[in-house]
Amino acid sequence: MKERIDELLKEIEAFTASTKEHAEEFRIKILSKKGKVTALFEDFKTVTPELRKEIGQQLNELKNKAQDKINHLKEKFENSDESSNQNSDITLPAESIPVGSRHPLSLVRNQIVDIFSRIGFTVSEGPEIEDDWHNFTALNTPADHPARDMQDTFYISENPDTVLRTQTSSVQVHIMEGTEPPIRTISPGRVYRNEAISARAHCQFHQVEGLYIDKKVSFADLKQTLLYFSKEMFGEETKIRLRPSFFPFTEISAEMDISCPFCKGKGCNICKGAGWVEILGCGMVDPAVLENCKIDSTQYSGFAFGMGVERIAMLKYQVKDLRLFFENDIRFLKQFKSVI
Ligand code: DAH
Repeated sequence: MKERIDELLKEIEAFTASTKEHAEEFRIKILSKKGKVTALFEDFKTVTPELRKEIGQQLNELKNKAQDKINHLKEKFENSDESSNQNSDITLPAESIPVGSRHPLSLVRNQIVDIFSRIGFTVSEGPEIEDDWHNFTALNTPADHPARDMQDTFYISENPDTVLRTQTSSVQVHIMEGTEPPIRTISPGRVYRNEAISARAHCQFHQVEGLYIDKKVSFADLKQTLLYFSKEMFGEETKIRLRPSFFPFTEISAEMDISCPFCKGKGCNICKGAGWVEILGCGMVDPAVLENCKIDSTQYSGFAFGMGVERIAMLKYQVKDLRLFFENDIRFLKQFKSVI
């Protein structure tokens, strides 16, 4: 037995391989199930107990040596495979690395932020999990207002005072509670409503809230600010129109339409022939809301507005189904490019 082990050891040590295949043949001959080392292990069963320890050790060493040798040979051939590629033409242009693109809603949000930053608006954010005070009560929304209904709002069941915010107007309240006027800020963020999901509605979407509080802020300031925004966002030729409306937290309140960016006001299927499309709600901050936030309404006035980011993105990019924004299909997402 000992001689056979020594012989095999010598054979292994002496072996050299000229090719990868040659090395593999050697592995099969020595280490496979029918290989020489395996055969020796089979015979080991017949070794007398006194010699077992010594022969067992030698056999294990033999096996390890064989394994090391084969690993070494394989490595050698793999490395030489790589080095043979060094003949390739290093002046060829490198393969391009595909770069991702920004989500269309991020593009539009960034653009909105950029447009308002240019006229001195800061960006502020508030929590998505909100209390009743900031989402409703401070905003003058009475206890029996339909927006408070379980049908429209996600309440946290353990604590009926806690809701997923239904509007970024809640951030107005945080800001006014914590800042001395003048205040000029926009608040982008996600909001939630208990809606059935369809091409036009979703249970989560994004808004940008705007707030301007100072001495002698007027409706004319609001109108001019929104006209500036609309032209920057949809093009210089864009016109705006304000229609009287109602929101609990503004007095007076209005909804704003822009001239349809597709037909330029002539009437098409996007604007349903009207020539106008609605993009936001706005108004003068109700004095009661200022007082709720400890701002003296005899000294200060202000305007506020709120717009849906998806709505703007749908108009800007002609997207007909809101759900596309949340499905994250790469084929959809990679179509949007912007400088911002
Ligand atoms: N919060 C309103 C909504 O979700 C939008 C809105 C309307 C915000 C008028 C305002 C505003 O700040 O003045 O529909």
